[in-house]
Amino acid sequence: LDNGLALTPPMGWLTWERFRCITDCKKYPNECISENLIKRTADRMVSDGYLDAGYEYLGIDDCWLEKTRGPDGRMVPDKERFPSGMKAIADYIHGKGLKFGMYEDYGNLTCAGYPGVLGNERLDIQTFVDWDIDYLKLDGCYIEPKEMDAGYPSFGKLLNETGRSILYSCSWPAYQEDAKMLPDYGSIAEHCNMWRNWDDIEDSWASLTKIMDWFGDNQERLAKHAGPGHWNDPDMPDYGSIAEHCNMWRNWDDIEDSWASLTKIMDWFGDNQERLAKHAGPGHWNDPDMLLIGNFGLTVDQARVQMAVWSILAAPLLMSVDLDTIKPEFKAILLNKDIIAVNQDPLGQQGLRVWKKTDRGARQRLEIWNRKLQDGSSALAFVSQRDDGIPYAANFSYEEMQIAQGEYEVQDFYKDEGVRHWNSEQDFEVRINPSGVKFYKFIPKTSRATSDAYASSSK
Ligand code: GLA
Ligand code: GLA
Repeated sequence: LDNGLALTPPMGWLTWERFRCITDCKKYPNECISENLIKRTADRMVSDGYLDAGYEYLGIDDCWLEKTRGPDGRMVPDKERFPSGMKAIADYIHGKGLKFGMYEDYGNLTCAGYPGVLGNERLDIQTFVDWDIDYLKLDGCYIEPKEMDAGYPSFGKLLNETGRSILYSCSWPAYQEDAKMLPDYGSIAEHCNMWRNWDDIEDSWASLTKIMDWFGDNQERLAKHAGPGHWNDPDMPDYGSIAEHCNMWRNWDDIEDSWASLTKIMDWFGDNQERLAKHAGPGHWNDPDMLLIGNFGLTVDQARVQMAVWSILAAPLLMSVDLDTIKPEFKAILLNKDIIAVNQDPLGQQGLRVWKKTDRGARQRLEIWNRKLQDGSSALAFVSQRDDGIPYAANFSYEEMQIAQGEYEVQDFYKDEGVRHWNSEQDFEVRINPSGVKFYKFIPKTSRATSDAYASSSK
């Protein structure tokens, strides 16, 4: 969306992943979605260096509303948890130099069952403007995914017409991917002479009829692609339109606090990168969801994986963690300036999973992620999804890493290793902890003198 915002991936903090829909402030005074949580997080974002590192948006996700609208039809924030009202919260946040994010849902209800905006679009946008918000996450529960193709753009247009700069975060493709996760037969038909659609046939009547049934059951979306002239599949999310109307968009499943969930999302973004990556750029970003870093489910190594891969994906960096109690080793990951610089690289080119290999069962997996940076260097993450015991040593050629031939200075973003000098005539050797990452900046020797990022990261 070309509204002058999100020229680099948005950075900030959101309530949802860590604090969900905790509304019982008597039982959980420190965790409930409330003024107290928002204010103490605002304080920490400033005092502990998060704002200085670039995390500027502070967002309330779901569960901030009363269950019914007011007599004037307006949205009413929960009176017990937000007694001062949202304008006061906005003033507090702005007073700290932060920006204020809010959540609503385009459908009849939010995902957690609070009133959605449908039918009240203009009034709700006016209310958000009265509250001085800077960021709106518009979710997509309780509405048909098909209606989003028109709905999200028209809501965004109204938002834009208010004249207030509001970053527009859409969940539009997430629901469309989820509802109709179908192969793009338009593209398949364009690139292949024939294609195996489904399971291998076996030498039995059962297998034959299973396959016949499947082709009959799916004929509506298959048959039209069996001849020339029908190359467009309207069932896929239209990322061109999504990128035109949103600053960022959730593509897929909600992240949960586990390595299993993190790797599932990484895998999906890798598997679908060809159709996703090209739509990312200044003003418009794919969003693999919040950072889990500092919570319960990831080890330090696994947290390093998320920070590395999210920076390569040019993903929004949205923390969701208790900043009062976060452990220093996790805080250091979130505040790693050199990695944030990769994420915020002005070229805005989403990186790719350029290599992967799976041994003995789906979990013994290594992969390389590569992002080109504006200064001519490259950020490469060597990720291990292996869980077989000890650090795993591997060698890679420049071709596997998809990096140009030549001489490089190689810096370890996590500073476990000193600077290396590497010539692409040799293999590059890494040793990666189980479910961990080695994350390096490859700086071509020739562009060294002109590299600003190099100058700042080598101090
Ligand atoms: C959906 C979204 C989440 C969160 C919840 C709130 O599941 O994808 O990110 O906003 O709704 O209910
Ligand atoms: C896959 C294919 C089959 C066959 C085998 C060979 O299962 O779907 O058609 O080519 O591999 O290993």
